[in-house]
Amino acid sequence: MELKFPKGFLWGAATSAHQVEGGNNNDWTEWEKENAGRLAREAKNRWQPWQQEKFPEMLRPENYVSGRACGHYNLFREDFDLAKSLGHSAYRLSLEWSRIEPEEGKFNEEEIEHYRQVLSALKERGLEPFVTLWHWTNPLWFSRLGGWRNLKAEKYFQRYCRKITKAFGNLARFYITLNEPDIYIMNSYQRGIWPPQKRNFGLVKVVLRNLVRAHKLAYEAIHESAAGAQAGIAKNNVYFSGWPLSFLADFLWNHQILIRIRNHQDFIGLNYYFHRHFSKNEDKEITDMGWEIYPEGIYRVLKGLKKYGKPVYVTENGLADAEDGKRKDFIKNHLIWIHKAIQEGVDVRGYFHWSLLDNFEWDKGFWPRFGLFEVNYQTLERRKRPSADYYASICQNNGLENS
Ligand code: FCB
Repeated sequence: MELKFPKGFLWGAATSAHQVEGGNNNDWTEWEKENAGRLAREAKNRWQPWQQEKFPEMLRPENYVSGRACGHYNLFREDFDLAKSLGHSAYRLSLEWSRIEPEEGKFNEEEIEHYRQVLSALKERGLEPFVTLWHWTNPLWFSRLGGWRNLKAEKYFQRYCRKITKAFGNLARFYITLNEPDIYIMNSYQRGIWPPQKRNFGLVKVVLRNLVRAHKLAYEAIHESAAGAQAGIAKNNVYFSGWPLSFLADFLWNHQILIRIRNHQDFIGLNYYFHRHFSKNEDKEITDMGWEIYPEGIYRVLKGLKKYGKPVYVTENGLADAEDGKRKDFIKNHLIWIHKAIQEGVDVRGYFHWSLLDNFEWDKGFWPRFGLFEVNYQTLERRKRPSADYYASICQNNGLENS
């Protein structure tokens, strides 16, 4: 049977600046240089023997330095041609704050012009831009002032957002203020494994409060300066199962932030990757990174968002799968469950696969391969994976066969 998606449903892929652009100079680039050797050494204990064998590059320090990444800063037009060739109608990207405001309060007009060209290139190709304003990387001046711990962080962020939305006017209609604030807080301040590596429970609370406030101020700035624009966050929600802990975890992880910003969001961006079962430990199908593949979970978390009564865009969903043996079924099965959620009244309006290209996966570096297109990091050549054609057929038909 063919499952059709609602008319006007947006289809696309997502990326973030630091992971694809190359040539950045922010708090992550500094951290990578200092930690590449350690990360390469630790890979021996961190990953299973089969993973080390399949991706020996994880044992080498250069894997952990983003460097020129995918060269997307210069190749954006070619990359958008690729997205268009797959029949996409939207594209999620992020702007690199450290390029736009390299010194406190001093904006780089050339970089603003660069992103104006990026957004125009999307428009010319009929790709609706979903613009993320902050996808985890911070300008160096901001991190030296304490980053998100600083009480003025929200004001700094608002000033940057105001500048952007004023500059771009109606070049973008959809803004995502923050990408996964929860994952950032967990890794940077709770586990202390990402920059700035501050493991401190008091700071978890401070940073959470500051990010929530920053979102609200950014939301206001967007509405002041870009008439008709819509704003939300990209929220990483997890399907928790196994009574009774799942109830508590669901509230704390999935809903705490959304409840706090419920009057300051026009849509909800959902990033779905994880299922966490509190009691059973069954055999699971996994990705190259060992993440469980659990398509039903996307339906469960979507149903959990229904109560907010807002449109939902799936702003990320994907897997590390270098051989592309699992991506086709992954896409198909997640979309079948998304379709069911729509049938049951969740107002889902778009799906962005993570990612268009293989890219720099944060503290794991380059070895995880998330792309619809494979990237050869020596030549920067892009090569289409077979699953990209399958996804293209869905985008073009606005539907899929569920048999
Ligand atoms: C998400 C991030 C994205 C990418 C994927 C795999 O949590 O938002 O940048 O790293 O995971």
